[in-house]
Amino acid sequence: MSAKNKKKSTPPAAAPAIAANIESHMVENRVFKPAKEFAKKAHVSSMDEYRSLWKKSVRNPEKFWGGLARELDWRKKWKQVLEWKAPFAKWFIGGKLNVAENCLDRHLHGPKKNKAAIIWEGEPGESRTLTYAQLHREVCRFANVLKRNKVKKGDRVLIYMPMIPEAAIAMLACARIGAIHSVVFGGFSAESIKDRANDSGATCIVTADGGYRRGAIVPLKHNVDAALKDGSTKVKHVIVFRRAHNEVHIEEGRDVWWHRELEYVSAVCPAVEMDSEDPLFILYTSGSTGKPKGILHTTAGYLLGAYVTTKYVFDLRPDDIYWCTADVGWITGHSYLVYGPLANGATSIMYEGAPNWPESDRFWKIIADHGVTILYTAPTAIRAFIKWGDQWPARHDLTSLRLLGTVGEPINPEAWMWYHQKIGGGRCPIVDTWWQTETGAIMITPLPGATPTKPGTATLPFFGIDAAIVDDAGNEVGPNEGGKLVVRKPWPSMLRAVWGDKARYKEAYWSEFKKQGFYFTGDGARRDKDGYFWIVGRIDDVLNVAGHRLGTAEIESALVSHESVAEAAVVGCPDEIKGQGVAAFVTLKTGQTPTDKLKEELRKHVANAIGPIAKPDQIRFADALPKTRSGKIMRRLLKQIASGQTVTGDTTTLEDFSILARLQSTEE
Ligand code: PRX
Repeated sequence: MSAKNKKKSTPPAAAPAIAANIESHMVENRVFKPAKEFAKKAHVSSMDEYRSLWKKSVRNPEKFWGGLARELDWRKKWKQVLEWKAPFAKWFIGGKLNVAENCLDRHLHGPKKNKAAIIWEGEPGESRTLTYAQLHREVCRFANVLKRNKVKKGDRVLIYMPMIPEAAIAMLACARIGAIHSVVFGGFSAESIKDRANDSGATCIVTADGGYRRGAIVPLKHNVDAALKDGSTKVKHVIVFRRAHNEVHIEEGRDVWWHRELEYVSAVCPAVEMDSEDPLFILYTSGSTGKPKGILHTTAGYLLGAYVTTKYVFDLRPDDIYWCTADVGWITGHSYLVYGPLANGATSIMYEGAPNWPESDRFWKIIADHGVTILYTAPTAIRAFIKWGDQWPARHDLTSLRLLGTVGEPINPEAWMWYHQKIGGGRCPIVDTWWQTETGAIMITPLPGATPTKPGTATLPFFGIDAAIVDDAGNEVGPNEGGKLVVRKPWPSMLRAVWGDKARYKEAYWSEFKKQGFYFTGDGARRDKDGYFWIVGRIDDVLNVAGHRLGTAEIESALVSHESVAEAAVVGCPDEIKGQGVAAFVTLKTGQTPTDKLKEELRKHVANAIGPIAKPDQIRFADALPKTRSGKIMRRLLKQIASGQTVTGDTTTLEDFSILARLQSTEE
């Protein structure tokens, strides 16, 4: 790679304004071309090749995707590639296949049989390797355990697990028998498990006694017990894997131990023939209003998206040791730790714990110990590594790495440069990948053998993806003009529904540009003169904290559920490591006294309701919130206050001006 132009980022004369007042202040002139050596071996090795393939793919997406789908294993071929009755898509109509069969069985008849599928490291230091043959056997056995626990095709199974191979085994076992899994991030609270169990109508939960995180045990089973305590869910069976050997309660008639159940089952479990459009999983993600949305992904389209993007974006080679550091509780863990790599027959690394346990070099040690060739992680982690210091990566031999990736939020150019130099040794391309829980797979990304990269941009759309930036009327805007990021044509791994809520599906994604039939991402962005996409951030009321989406409404409702709170408004505030922090403005009920103790109590209250990730960084007590005459909270003003800026812009719609002065004098 060569830096064509070494000039540092300079602020432009006038920052381009993005819809809904998001502004982009970044102009980045450094360009890094793929090295010749890398390009030579790559699946796509020049920009000309990319451009011509991309053009063909969006001119006739059905032909393009239909061609790629042949690389999967089908029990029965599809009759029609796409039926698009906006906003409802069906892909590969009439096709029959099984995702677990594509991830496992099809690799068993050749040299991949004894290849490592998952190499796992526990936080305390133990390590396990599962070959494709072994993983297949474990998945079959556990699929039979699910059946013993009355799980059938179409039933929902919640998976609330630490980062251990059994999390992937449980997901694949569900896929094998046609059950719909919904993985709940192990950092979420009992309340979140209960909400998801209720919303999905799950009948079974797969969990563990505990998992390790920063030397402590996360009491997973205990949280499940608390979630099921009030009896509001339909959960009848809880299967518990023994991981941490912490003491747990076993409820007679409901709870069973994973290892005991295995004694009763065989290792033979034929995969169920699934229709292309049968649901594969539900994953909950935050939206701008109310409770999290259950994003539904289906069988064939999702698998194809995960498979194809893993192959091309990470430019997979047969001997790669690939490590996606995301938790299986997020979409990145689904698509790029489990389904994408396994569908490709790759070797995937899985690590249970924190990056700074026992010391701040754990990631670099894992890379050196296992000879990791591809690393896919989040900007928030990179910023933490920078803070911890260069001495940690310097202790280890990182020369096995050949490709780096990032995901989850915009990466600031300085973090990109650090990643490039200190981790990639100046030689590894970086793929900055833009996508969402809803898109199922990577949408905007460099192809490492073709695309010249610039620090801070996800560059260009993947094959078959017709992304654009439009104004409020849906017209494409010019170079460097800000607007809303949309996708103009359906793609195979797109979400199919919000579980149980058709109206919300239409409203959240398809109402903004209903006339045009565009999918609205909720992100603001601009394209530069080369057509590269620069994502600026969310324009709805969704925060991106450490690469994870949190709805402001969700945190507000958690705060208001505390007995002392009358009203709450939550906005984002800048945070050096997390990208965005959570700032809460709270008014108390009459008779309640604002104290530091109460602030701490409210923080804990939010952590209990949602999970520690949502804990407000700032809590400010106010005697009133700034509202318009129609009663809408003026978040723009609160954002400025939370960021320590002076309030500017139009305040004429503010109902009570004195509130502003009083708010500005409140201290965190
Ligand atoms: O705002 C964008 C940001 O993360 C959002 C999607 O979040 P989630 O569904 O949790 O999925 C995260 C992992 C795919 C997007 O709407 N985002 C994701 N990747 C990037 C990004 N922003 C800028 N650059 C990225 N590479």
